Amino acid sequence: MMATETGTSISEVFPGGSRVNELGRLEIGGCDAIEVAREYGTPAYLVAEDDLRARARAYLQGAGEPGLAGLAVAFASKAFPCTAVLELFAEEGLWCDVASGGELHLALRAGFDASRLVLHGNAKSRSELESALAIGVGFVVLDNFDELDRLADLLADGALGERSSQPVLIRATPDVRGETHAKISTGQADSKFGFSMADVPRAIARVGEIEGLQLRGMHAHIGSQLFDLDAFRRCAEQLATLGSFPVFDLGGGLGVPYTAEQRAPSIADYLAALAEAVREHLPRHELLLLEPGRSLTAPSCVTLYTVESVKRNVSTWVAVDGGMSDNLRPMLYDAPYEAHVADRMFGAAPCVLAGKHCESGDVIVGNALLDDPRAGDVIVTPVTGAYTYAMANNYNGVCRPPVIFCKDGDARVVVRRETHEDLGARDVG
Ligand code: LLP
Repeated sequence: MMATETGTSISEVFPGGSRVNELGRLEIGGCDAIEVAREYGTPAYLVAEDDLRARARAYLQGAGEPGLAGLAVAFASKAFPCTAVLELFAEEGLWCDVASGGELHLALRAGFDASRLVLHGNAKSRSELESALAIGVGFVVLDNFDELDRLADLLADGALGERSSQPVLIRATPDVRGETHAKISTGQADSKFGFSMADVPRAIARVGEIEGLQLRGMHAHIGSQLFDLDAFRRCAEQLATLGSFPVFDLGGGLGVPYTAEQRAPSIADYLAALAEAVREHLPRHELLLLEPGRSLTAPSCVTLYTVESVKRNVSTWVAVDGGMSDNLRPMLYDAPYEAHVADRMFGAAPCVLAGKHCESGDVIVGNALLDDPRAGDVIVTPVTGAYTYAMANNYNGVCRPPVIFCKDGDARVVVRRETHEDLGARDVG
């Protein structure tokens, strides 16, 4: 298997350019996973930099599709809020979706122009809104009437400074349910996000009363890890019922395959479906925003662990040096992953890949197929570039892993491993 170009890979779930090298070891971005583990320790997130860029470019290619004129792609930074990732996407010409003052700060620091930031949130604080108005974000996406009252106060207090107005979008809850885990479904009528379809006309009227707000269009985000492209079409159809606007933002949500058995539409499939839906339902838009998170970052990253113990208690339990502190997704959403021994890939022995945390639920892969795992082996779980680093924590005093960019055989640490000192750094007294 000598696939070395980006876009080709040992299996669909590994980043483009991954291969098994002459020593039988996994290579990511030309870097031997066993050597990276030896040099930088485990657990570690390894990002194939070329694959990440290729994903951004696949999205931007959509701008050429008839129907997707005026396309702007905003990276949903919540998926992987790390400066190096943000810098890379800023360089590639993306916009950035931020959902808090913290994400706003990171995005600005990484070089995104304020005019390319889209501020989200169902509970934006006065100070978050104040910062957004002060720097002049591209759009504030309005979520509720209380937020509108808060904005009215801020604008009356001169929060715009020299600027005359702040462009805003209204987030609607279109009552379109895509098939996904209930915890990451957002488009249904009974959702904590956005205005109900019935309230949108009142929200439009209220925005019109507030001097300094400039209504530009509508937004909807129906959920995450969606495979059914028709749900996105129905979303566009619903938004069209709200009126004709220069800007529509269709959110994110495209799913990715986490295991070799899963089949997901590609970015190109997704864009082709959107182009058709937009041509049909939103033909007069000027700017079409998308906010992908997962599909930009998840497949570009793998996590490396080291096996600490193997035991047979009915099942074969393989325990590694990480777990729910570096990947909460299996525990929160029953998310499936696969795992391999990094120098004996594609094994067949059924095992439970468990983490090191003090909970029975700390299982990373319940049905892993591993080749004779032993203490000291390096284990790899692919597709860990979205909502893993982002949701990492210090449960059991475990230090969060480093992020290592791999490209052309060079490994570069872009986030260092946390230390025990870091764990007490905020403690006072
Ligand atoms: N736009 C908005 C307004 C969002 O709320 C989200 C995700 C996105 C865009 C990006 O969606 P994506 O393209 O990544 O599906 N922690 C969960 C996912 C939560 C998604 C939250 N919002 C998980 O690990 O599956």
